[in-house]
Amino acid sequence: MTGFPVLRLRRLRRTPGIRAALRETDLPPSRLILPVFVDPALDRPAPIPSIPGHFRWPPEGLGPLVERVESAGLGGLLLFGRPSRKDQGGSGAWDPQGAVPRSLRSLRDHSSILRIADVCLCAYTTEGHCGVWGPEGLDNDATLPGLARTAVAYAEAGADWVAPSAMVDGQVGAIRAALDGGGHTETGILAYAAKSASAFYGPFRDAEGSAPATGDRKGYQMDPANPREAMREIQADLDEGADVVMVKPGLPQLDLLSRARARFDAPLAVYHTSGEHAMVKAAAERGWLEEAAAVREILTALRRAGADLIITYHALEAAERKWLP
Ligand code: PBG
Ligand code: ZN
Repeated sequence: MTGFPVLRLRRLRRTPGIRAALRETDLPPSRLILPVFVDPALDRPAPIPSIPGHFRWPPEGLGPLVERVESAGLGGLLLFGRPSRKDQGGSGAWDPQGAVPRSLRSLRDHSSILRIADVCLCAYTTEGHCGVWGPEGLDNDATLPGLARTAVAYAEAGADWVAPSAMVDGQVGAIRAALDGGGHTETGILAYAAKSASAFYGPFRDAEGSAPATGDRKGYQMDPANPREAMREIQADLDEGADVVMVKPGLPQLDLLSRARARFDAPLAVYHTSGEHAMVKAAAERGWLEEAAAVREILTALRRAGADLIITYHALEAAERKWLP
């Protein structure tokens, strides 16, 4: 008496009301984080060709965007800065007059939205790598002080969380120590913990002007073939004091997200990257995909696999146009 014809699973799919009542995965907009690019050279927003629907914003001109983000109920903003100068050490990253600190101060004065600042040197170094470039490739330990100074500069300007994305060993520990040393014990760390050397960052690097001048990032970002190593990266960041850990990119690494969810009780974020966004946008533009349904399905998958927070370029549109499960 347990199988067909008595058991009929379709009975629970019969109407939209039944389906809504029984949906196992839902996604309030408060779990979505919007990436935002700020550029000190601008006095009005400028569209980003490689990320359709997105703009580079003047640091003090985020008001209209924040209004939309707040009324859509999004969880927060993740800030990326365009540099006003580039040098070998990436000193523009920690300049208190740089785009990110200026934006943070302006946001702090006008809104209570969660402010997250990406911490990396790739947009600020002449070599376009995520730290100090030497004869042997990325110089791990020489990169740590710059990342730590950057994190402190962003904390001072009002970041709630700093988000180190350079994938150098010890970055979370170095940043935690510097923050605590500077009295910023309440500033959190969202660690890009399991971040792979991925083909899906291309549109972002166009937007940021942060593509490496020579070589690639495989000497520091992870090999996407290594799930066990990914768990070690997450463990290491938690041991160094990360408050929230991240898997990046998203869809190509859903299994890592789900493994991390099963293994760690810390808050877990996923980055649905610029290249993943580009695939949807390009296909939708050609009429090959229905965008609303595709975005809903992707965000559902990321949430179902275990993400507490989803960083996505679709955040605002998905929340405003009710594309969420
Ligand atoms: C900087 C950084 C990158 C992304 C987030 N922070 C690029 C990279 O590592 O090359 C990618 C984000 C995206 O593609 O949306 N280290
Ligand atoms: Zn970087």
